[in-house]
Amino acid sequence: GTGKFFVGGNWKCNGTKDSISTLVSDLNSANIESDVDVVVSPPYLYIDQVKSSLTDRIEISAQNCWVGKGGAYTGEISAEQLKDIGCKWVILGHSERRHVIGENDEFIGKKAAYALNQDIKVIACIGELLEERESGKTFDVCFKQLKAFADSVPSWENIVIAYEPVWAIGTGKVATPEQAQEVHSAVRDWLKKNVSAEVASSIRIIYGGSVNGSNCDELAKQEDIDGFLVGGASLKGPEFAKIVNSVT
Ligand code: G3H
Repeated sequence: GTGKFFVGGNWKCNGTKDSISTLVSDLNSANIESDVDVVVSPPYLYIDQVKSSLTDRIEISAQNCWVGKGGAYTGEISAEQLKDIGCKWVILGHSERRHVIGENDEFIGKKAAYALNQDIKVIACIGELLEERESGKTFDVCFKQLKAFADSVPSWENIVIAYEPVWAIGTGKVATPEQAQEVHSAVRDWLKKNVSAEVASSIRIIYGGSVNGSNCDELAKQEDIDGFLVGGASLKGPEFAKIVNSVT
């Protein structure tokens, strides 16, 4: 890819005021190379705490948002509210929302369109289950998920695509650099054929799934891996900083 390296830390449903305060000070004192976009994604409740204590060098993402304008939607958070508190990004279509919560392609596509419309940038996640990989359906599944985004979004300018094979998430079974590269390259090809050559060459396609301080360097060398979406290892400041710096 040609875009700037991008590393996101998805904290998922982890942390307390105290543990997050420690993580933020570790991130504030970490040495981050200048040519990397860095984003962290705390649980909604802690976004304001993180926003007021974290260095401006790192932007903040939500892990989800409501599909449309706020109102009578108990328990939801709207894109307008994210914008209001200074949150610049949202992760949409994460495998845990697809497979644990049950969000479908169409709903996720609508969320992406609405968030972009509110000037919130989107980390759009795709990825196959183990049984889908084993039955040779990896590309079909990823392309179907991509198409749902493509059918909804007005532009790809403010989107980063995260390829996260579900079997690699939280399992310690990272995709090999070759396995990840193969899908990233296929995704870029799909975008070239179905969106535009310009979007295909400029969009960042990041990898997620058991990325850590020891496997990041090999993955980062792959031609079509433009960064990472890190779960577990993003809860440890020094290790996350190492992953952030893996491009150099
Ligand atoms: O969003 C992050 C991914 O789900 C990866 O999680 O690094 O804990 O495997 P993990």
